Amino acid sequence: MTDARPGTDRHSTDRPAADRRAAVADLRRIGINRDHWYPVARSRNVPKERTFAAVFAGERIALYRGRSGRVYALEDRCAHRQVPLSMGVVEGDALRCCYHAWAYRGNGHISQIPYLPKGCERPPRGVASYPVREAYGLVFVFPGDPDKAESAPFPVLPEFAAASHRTMTFSRTVRCHYSFMHENLLDMNHQFLHRGVLGRIQPELLGYESGPRFVEARYLFVPAGGRKDRGAGLLSAEGIGGKDRPDVVTIRTEYPYQTLRDVPEGAELPAFSLWAAYVPEDAEQRTNHAYGLLMIAKPPVPGVLHLAWPLIRRFTERVFAQDRMAVEAEQRAWDEQGEDRNHEVFPLILDVREVLRSNGVPLDPPAGAPAAPGSGGRPGAVAEANGSTGRG
Ligand code: FES
Ligand SMILES: [Fe+2]
Repeated sequence: MTDARPGTDRHSTDRPAADRRAAVADLRRIGINRDHWYPVARSRNVPKERTFAAVFAGERIALYRGRSGRVYALEDRCAHRQVPLSMGVVEGDALRCCYHAWAYRGNGHISQIPYLPKGCERPPRGVASYPVREAYGLVFVFPGDPDKAESAPFPVLPEFAAASHRTMTFSRTVRCHYSFMHENLLDMNHQFLHRGVLGRIQPELLGYESGPRFVEARYLFVPAGGRKDRGAGLLSAEGIGGKDRPDVVTIRTEYPYQTLRDVPEGAELPAFSLWAAYVPEDAEQRTNHAYGLLMIAKPPVPGVLHLAWPLIRRFTERVFAQDRMAVEAEQRAWDEQGEDRNHEVFPLILDVREVLRSNGVPLDPPAGAPAAPGSGGRPGAVAEANGSTGRG
């Protein structure tokens, strides 16, 4: 692909590397695999008898919570005239469009067309519905083949419900492809970026493992001086638990999720752990919604965590802002270049790229661009295939 672009002569010394890159699909054109459970809202965004406009990779989803307390997810487009159903009103466990008042059940079937003349047949199809699960204060939908929803792995987070832990939830949009997020957290060699917040930290890779669906890395963190945010201290060796050992942190991408855990020796649950999902918002998947659950063990002295909470929040927000700055800059470079042109040297990052590439689905090339090598699927095809499985 590089060869076909004008003005790329300065990369000609790079030809063998460019050729190697061309042999594999550009990871930033790989869409996320739909056959997984993805959070699309916080539970509190969907109060009883209210709707919420969610999105997954350009697909608008109307969430609503019925009077029963159950959450439903429908295609956000009325079957009548395509007005968003998220603008509608909840009646019992049904959703009524705000325009001509067609009503839908939670499975997307039309339950009522109030003005339908006698003897007229109802349209055969309603709208698509998505399997929904609510857990950990998040609403998850299954955007893929609904027949696979039941058997698809669902995140298991025992520390979320444990009385010993408290959870801080993060939910925000980051303007980059989800793959940059995985690479950011797994590659701890970027601590220089956080030097103002974390002080100088020397991360040492103790080892890593990878497989077809995962990469797991273990790092030892050794402080090397410098000023540090107080929140950082609270989440590290000298922290609220009063630990007397350096931090060993395990970071794992297990498609499509990511976790970071600090499990003290001999302990059953981590001192703290982060679970994260990066859910594409737009059809081109150059923006993701990052959902994070940071679960922190309560220290033995009651009330200490409560007092430390705002500091931990401020610290994590500062770190996150720096990471966001970096990954959004990476995405901008990709947008300007039209492709990945980088020189990654860290083996486990090459591995996680392969995990994300081989478990994902190629996206459409932009109009007028040559097809990416190996690209076969397209989001439209997925949507059509889903339609034909009888959703809605
Ligand atoms: S557009 Fe929804 S009822 Fe007419
Ligand atoms: Fe970071």
